[in-house]
Amino acid sequence: MEKIIWSSRFETKVPEMDQQHQNLFRIINQLIEMRNAGDSERDRIFEVLKQMSDYSQYHFRFENNFIHQGTYIGRTRHLDAHDFYLAELKRFIDAFTAGKGGLTTEILDFLKTWWSRHILETDRELAVHIIAQGLTFSGWD
Ligand SMILES: [Fe+2]
Ligand SMILES: [Fe+2]
Repeated sequence: MEKIIWSSRFETKVPEMDQQHQNLFRIINQLIEMRNAGDSERDRIFEVLKQMSDYSQYHFRFENNFIHQGTYIGRTRHLDAHDFYLAELKRFIDAFTAGKGGLTTEILDFLKTWWSRHILETDRELAVHIIAQGLTFSGWD
């Protein structure tokens, strides 16, 4: 499977967001490498899936700070998108821990597609809101 390649088209111009997105790409690529190498060590795979889940939640908490500042028209849609993603990821991880299959192309395709689209559409729109209103990160909830 092809890795997900970072390029300037993913840049939102909000440096912390871009950095975190790049870290998310790294974790996805770690999973793709494991699959390509035929790694079937379930504990190792679970560890990286857990990292994917933890870091996604960290990243969403970071974005939440901006989502709740000022008047952001896309607020509900953005929060719903994050919730949908976390529910899907949980469904995959639960199936994995229940022993139903391995690191499937379904999981990896979902991660690649969801993050690409989300960054290019929803996060880009959030970044416009952040930059236009001159927002700065005001701390964790
Ligand atoms: Fe994001
Ligand atoms: Fe987002």
